[in-house]
Amino acid sequence: MTALIVGRGLGMCYPGSSAGVFEALNFEVASGEFVAILGRSGSGKSTLLHLLGAMEQPTSGSLTIGGIKLDGLDDIAQTAFRRRHLGFVFQAYNLVPTLTVAENLRLPLDLNGIAEGDSIAQMLEALGLENRARRYPDQLSGGEQQRVAIGRALIHAPDLILADEPTGNLDAETSAEVLALLQRLVRTRRHTLIVATHSLDAARNADRIFQLDHGRLVSP
Ligand SMILES: Nc1ncnc2c1ncn2[C@@H]1O[C@H](COP(=O)(O)OP(=O)(O)OP(=O)(O)O)[C@@H](O)[C@H]1O
Ligand SMILES: [Mg+2]
Repeated sequence: MTALIVGRGLGMCYPGSSAGVFEALNFEVASGEFVAILGRSGSGKSTLLHLLGAMEQPTSGSLTIGGIKLDGLDDIAQTAFRRRHLGFVFQAYNLVPTLTVAENLRLPLDLNGIAEGDSIAQMLEALGLENRARRYPDQLSGGEQQRVAIGRALIHAPDLILADEPTGNLDAETSAEVLALLQRLVRTRRHTLIVATHSLDAARNADRIFQLDHGRLVSP
């Protein structure tokens, strides 16, 4: 498999902080791989996802995704990259509250100028939410909202799915269902998936685990 992501000497220090979150991270992620990022609170899991998601610029080193060098992209290029190549799943679901389930799923297609075809109907079925299409997010359970968010992250067939504590707000049983759904969809659609999590359960089926510890990536 070819490397989708290549990080070389990657370092991040937030402006005004005396110490960097991490420095000199070196890693590769193959296309189609599922990687879990583990580490205690504050170890930099979300920060690493923000770099991978072109939401922050690294302070040192280089980061390439699908041949595109992310360090040095300007704001407009970063936004265009995110929109086309990435799908995000957040702990707090982050659905648009004024849009229905079907309209939330349509957003990434509209933003990328992709004709809908029957992809929304297919996605609703894959999510098991056929009978929720016209509901608004506040009319759904947390588990249902996160299923919609997973659909929204995948529907435009991005190269890379980034998930930050995707089951952090859900009970154990719902977490297991949501994780199983995410993993099944990612495997069948051959996406690359990176999940930052405290949960060993969420990491259990990962192809590899990246453990962040005191600014380094270590093997668990
Ligand atoms: N925007 C920011 N500005 C300055 N410092 C930040 C910012 N975001 C995070 N940090 C700092 O960077 C470090 C890593 O934070 P990060 O959120 O990446 O950790 P995390 O591993 O995701 O933690 P958690 O498990 O609690 O989500 C922390 O010391 C945090 O205070
Ligand atoms: Mg975090």
